[in-house]
Amino acid sequence: MSRVASPCSPRIPIRLKFNTLVRASSAKSDASLAPPTTRKPAKVPEGTPVIPPQDLASRPRRNRRSSTVRDAFRETILTPSNFIYPIFVHDGDDDIPIGSMPGQSRLGWKTGMINKVREARAAGVNQVVVFPKTPDNLKTPTAEECYNPNGLAQRSISLLKDTFPDLEVYTDVALDPYNTMGHDGMVRSDGVIMNDETVYYLCKQAVSQARAGADVISPSDMMDGRVGAIREALDSEGFTNVAIMSYTAKYNSAYYGPFRDALASAPRPGNEDWKIPLDKAEYQMDPANFRECLREAALDEAEGADILMVKPAGAYLDIIRALKDSTTLPISAYQVSGEYSMLKAAAAAGYLNEEEAVLESLISIKRAGADLTLTYYAVDAAKWIQEL
Ligand code: PBG
Repeated sequence: MSRVASPCSPRIPIRLKFNTLVRASSAKSDASLAPPTTRKPAKVPEGTPVIPPQDLASRPRRNRRSSTVRDAFRETILTPSNFIYPIFVHDGDDDIPIGSMPGQSRLGWKTGMINKVREARAAGVNQVVVFPKTPDNLKTPTAEECYNPNGLAQRSISLLKDTFPDLEVYTDVALDPYNTMGHDGMVRSDGVIMNDETVYYLCKQAVSQARAGADVISPSDMMDGRVGAIREALDSEGFTNVAIMSYTAKYNSAYYGPFRDALASAPRPGNEDWKIPLDKAEYQMDPANFRECLREAALDEAEGADILMVKPAGAYLDIIRALKDSTTLPISAYQVSGEYSMLKAAAAAGYLNEEEAVLESLISIKRAGADLTLTYYAVDAAKWIQEL
């Protein structure tokens, strides 16, 4: 019977001692026994102690000793085809920089958006998700604008597909950009976010996005049962080829702050008459919880999701890995606005090397198990990868 050493507990090596005396007396082997060479012997700094080498069978550093070797053994390689670039659009002509997200703008949907997507594609990024900034006068407590066939999101999706037929266009499904109260669902006067009523509108929103040409519908709202309801709505309207990327494990995170700035979509203060929760803890997951992510994943998979998402990414690598190991569906992870802003701020202050820190963050997300990564750094990272 063959015995396999466990990778966690290396065998104690029984080693044949080859000329212990020579090794103890000199750090180098005898050069006169090797063919002539032009390579210069390496020098050690004065004061280096002369000691016998440690008796080690395994020296992991041998597999890291040169860039060729490191390249050969690298397990995770970033490619722009795994990136999804989130874009903010508004119903105007100029691009309006987003203060809390340096380098990102609300793009004019007819010009800036198209130019930015052209730039992304040139760098190898052919997937985008569109977030519309709804003017205040179109917001209502029930968010009907979300399924306006001629709304900004629908027009932007359609223009993107007209201009770039092979671009993979993801959409956001949730009420917060359209809702006067700033929640992903409709808010009852006692502060309860209504689930099933919200899902009814989310289905209308999803179908309107599919009609506009969307490839992947992405519900980010965390209402119960929305994936199954949206799947049924899409199928009954003939959109069996339109996929669903579910925000499966979306945590109630402080890292969404800059995004809510960008869209002016943060929860609004309520009053005595109409209580509005200040955060989204009623429906987004508690950052303290792990096991719930498995429950959400099982439900979304059963309801017909094509891709499961974890959000945020960087602080939730354990959740990415858990989902990866619990399903055969592709996993996506969203490096959210706050993660982007932190990296930008540290780079601007000179505390971090931006390119290195960003690529490391993206490698870590992929290594944890993400097949797809949504990141505001998609275009920059794609260009940096090309230059490497
Ligand atoms: C809206 C939505 C949010 C994000 C994506 N879709 C904000 C939220 O849930 O409050 C956050 C993305 C980011 O921070 O980059 N439902």
